Amino acid sequence: MAQNQASSSNSTEWKAALNLPKKDLRPQTEDVTATKGTEFEDMFLRRELLMGIFEAGFERPSPIQEEAIPIALARRDVLARAKNGTGKTAAFVIPTLQQVDVTKPKIQACLLVPTRELALQTSQVCKILGKHMGVQVMVTTGGTTLKDDIMRLAEVVHVLVGTPGRILDLAGKGVADLSECPVFVMDEADKLLSPEFAPVMEQLLAYLPPTRQVMLFSATFPIIVKDFKDKHMKNPHEINLMDELTLRGVTQYYAYVEERQKVHCLNTLFSKLQINQSIIFCNSTNRVELLARKVTELGYSCFFSHAKMLQAHRNRVFHDFRNGVCRNLVCSDLLTRGIDIQAVNVVINFDFPKNSETYLHRIGRSGRFGHLGLAINLVTYEDRFNLFRVEQELGTEIQPIPQTIDKSLYVAPAGAEEPTGAVKKGQNRNPQQPGSRQQQTPQQSRGQTPAVAGPPRPPQQQPTYQQQQILNGAQAQAQYQQPVAR
Ligand SMILES: Nc1ncnc2c1ncn2[C@@H]1O[C@H](COP(=O)(O)OP(=O)(O)OP(=O)(O)O)[C@@H](O)[C@H]1O
Ligand SMILES: [Mg+2]
Repeated sequence: MAQNQASSSNSTEWKAALNLPKKDLRPQTEDVTATKGTEFEDMFLRRELLMGIFEAGFERPSPIQEEAIPIALARRDVLARAKNGTGKTAAFVIPTLQQVDVTKPKIQACLLVPTRELALQTSQVCKILGKHMGVQVMVTTGGTTLKDDIMRLAEVVHVLVGTPGRILDLAGKGVADLSECPVFVMDEADKLLSPEFAPVMEQLLAYLPPTRQVMLFSATFPIIVKDFKDKHMKNPHEINLMDELTLRGVTQYYAYVEERQKVHCLNTLFSKLQINQSIIFCNSTNRVELLARKVTELGYSCFFSHAKMLQAHRNRVFHDFRNGVCRNLVCSDLLTRGIDIQAVNVVINFDFPKNSETYLHRIGRSGRFGHLGLAINLVTYEDRFNLFRVEQELGTEIQPIPQTIDKSLYVAPAGAEEPTGAVKKGQNRNPQQPGSRQQQTPQQSRGQTPAVAGPPRPPQQQPTYQQQQILNGAQAQAQYQQPVAR
């Protein structure tokens, strides 16, 4: 189990041998800096794990990590609430990895998340932090071939990350043996306890031993969680770091528009804002596709993603957008929770969300790890009560958009653009990519082949259609845009 080899006399040698990423010099808010001063080396973690943590660019724990890791290591059940982008993932991945015995060929942790993209991202964090441990991490989600998962499970898996339906399927078939799995984590727990997932979660828990440790994490915990807590958790340690709800680094504005003015307004925003990468949210799949087409017609490159797309295409879009292939992503609430792309400095609610939880998670896609971000809401007459309600429920003020937006509110100062961090490693940094310090310029004249979007096609044509879109987007990007700062 835990050995604090790090404090041994040769501690400097292994640290000197680490392959550390470039420092992230961007300013950070108290959301991540207001800690008690704990160091990772104070946490009795095994050295191999510490090596992974430091090589991911993590220098010291964030407040949620400082609070949650020691409790989780003591095998207590944990119910933790902390703001978006403040490091909840590592707060459960680090104690999970610490508890894995890699000599034992059994599933020893089951990490549940509500979406496939988030499962991929979380498994990646496990792999990066556990890089020196020899831990075997498997990701499993719907939308992929069950047979591949069954074959993979014939080999050793220590940590299983996935979406509930697929894991239940594998457990039910007796392929995923969770009978000795001591750790059960629910990230975005309130979403996993919504009516859509709750019955699956209940069934899934029955496959784990009664002694399992249950950990719930989210930035939003409505009352829904109480029933689950009473029923399935043993004297959980509750952490709530939400003294306020919204991120300090994210400035929020609204633009009051008519529905038919929205695209024009977006065009103006594109031309005026210094967007490094942006995520633009719509309230329906249809509107995602329509808007992606409009954006392309305006001459800006964009990708789009929603739940009705083939999984392989969703993965490709997610992967390429992360790697800065394209500056803008139009999407539905599929990518509202947990998605961590540090280069995103602007979130635009093209459609205002229906509830405050969704609003909070959406705007939390910018301003990751205490950095600066901008959230702009296009608000119509019909949205006015919703806007008011969101402000009330989140105790925040969404101001009318000014004529000019001070860049220092959402653009990192010169020389400090380079983020580090787990998901950054191995990312493709294309030197041909657009320059972060400039506004976007339309990249193609109207009438050319759209980079993204187009009419719905029959399923058999979809792969070529989407591949072509992505290809077009990538080429257009390389030719016309300035690099994305990563
Ligand atoms: N201790 C640390 N030092 C530096 N960077 C960190 C540290 N912990 C996490 N990060 C980085 O912070 C970013 C946000 O982390 P993470 O995705 O875990 O946030 P979160 O709290 O789960 O947010 P959300 O509520 O949106 O899911 C990631 O890029 C991660 O690599
Ligand atoms: Mg998260």
